[in-house]
Amino acid sequence: MIHRMSRNARLGRKLLLASATLALLTAAAVIMLAVAILTLFRAGRLYSEVMAKWLSRAILTMWGVRLEAHRTEPFPKTQTVYVSNHSSTLDMFALVALGLPRTRFVGAEDLDGFLRWMAPLGIMSWLTGTLWAPPPSKPAERARWFQRTERLLRQTGGSIYLSPEGERVTTGRLGPFNSDNFQLAANLGAPIVPLYIEIPRDIDPGRGFDALPGTIHVHVKPTIPTRGWTPDSVRRHSETLRDRFVGIQEQLSSGRPAVASSSSAVPGMSDETSRERAIVAAFLSSSWYAEEEASSVVARLLRHPCSAEERDLLVAYAQEEDLHADLIEAHFRERGLTKGPPFWMHPLLRLARSRAALLLQFYSLELTAGVFYGAMASKTRDPGAKALIRRLLLDEAWHIRLHRGLLARELSRLSPRERLRMRALAWLYRRGMDAGARFQARQLAPVLGSDGRALPRKIAAHLRADLPGLFGRTNSRGFLDKTRTLQRRSSAAGPPSLDR
Ligand SMILES: [Fe+2]
Ligand SMILES: [Fe+2]
Repeated sequence: MIHRMSRNARLGRKLLLASATLALLTAAAVIMLAVAILTLFRAGRLYSEVMAKWLSRAILTMWGVRLEAHRTEPFPKTQTVYVSNHSSTLDMFALVALGLPRTRFVGAEDLDGFLRWMAPLGIMSWLTGTLWAPPPSKPAERARWFQRTERLLRQTGGSIYLSPEGERVTTGRLGPFNSDNFQLAANLGAPIVPLYIEIPRDIDPGRGFDALPGTIHVHVKPTIPTRGWTPDSVRRHSETLRDRFVGIQEQLSSGRPAVASSSSAVPGMSDETSRERAIVAAFLSSSWYAEEEASSVVARLLRHPCSAEERDLLVAYAQEEDLHADLIEAHFRERGLTKGPPFWMHPLLRLARSRAALLLQFYSLELTAGVFYGAMASKTRDPGAKALIRRLLLDEAWHIRLHRGLLARELSRLSPRERLRMRALAWLYRRGMDAGARFQARQLAPVLGSDGRALPRKIAAHLRADLPGLFGRTNSRGFLDKTRTLQRRSSAAGPPSLDR
């Protein structure tokens, strides 16, 4: 009887969650389509790395499934071929939830393309650029598909996710690997990043949909370069990689950890201190991504025409942000910490293209970073982190001034219509920064205390107060002189050091 009831309860849960999932998918597909129309179908990364990622996370959460990614490095920004084991329906959600940068997924053309033609999944896979591979039982079609895919990836320079097993293998053992997947990586000369998806057997729905609450672990293994692979050696390499996956599987089932887990907790340190250290480390880790990205954004900015003076200042700025990233990196190395994932808003920052939009983004980010660095430098009780953040903070004043000045100058050159568009964009950025700042203030609350709650308001007030200066016709003449003075003052602080 008990058995029957629990089976009934499980069936009830399955039906309820299945209909809720379908409703969520349908709503998300409609929203995604609307956003795609508004963005003229051109913001592929927004659809896959932001919208589909968060949808997958929401679905996993709804099913009570937690996702933990174990990795020591951020995912590569250059063309990469991701591969993983594939034993469960949950894999698809876990992989999309990782937000792999610029990555197309490959689905199996199974069940006569059932997934492909089933709205809303069809709409989403179309918008996120999913590709559909013919099965190995159709070798000629499959070979042509690989040729087309290779051409496409060469043109776009994007990454791809492939399942070497080709379908869900639910026997509890790894299926054979199709080596043509690795041939594609070798042809492209792109490195392979293996992902091992570990799903506890008691929560795994296999080919079904009734996952039970629990935690999925995705183990990101070290990158494998494919340069020098020949058609003859590809099969061997594919077997070696399969052996590695089998090795990981055995290691995990024997209970040994597959990766050394990193934690900022130090034996003998109080819980409160180690918690604070972990929060500060997460803050610095997300800052690292922003610092590290600055020089590539400057490179994008410099593709637009600009004066020699502006170019000099921007190059100096990019070098300084590179240095900030290095200082954070050194701090992490010294403490044996590993970086976490970037801040959830991070991928959105790659959408800006025009010079004005890039400058607006820099200005909003620098202001936000300055306010948070300031608060963290004064509040953290960790002397090492305090010294580091103070050092970073030293340069932020002139960074803010530089970008505010460049932005004001750029805006004054725009036509009234373009300025109107920029006003709307500035409003959007203010809203975005506000959401981001509120989120970050909540994360940092244990360190910042009640002062943290005021930070988003402070940032919003700064951004609003600057509006008349930015959009007024009063182009801030001589701002570069003031900027240079500030820059000199910050460099006069001497060579950066982490001495404490
Ligand atoms: Fe910085
Ligand atoms: Fe900065």
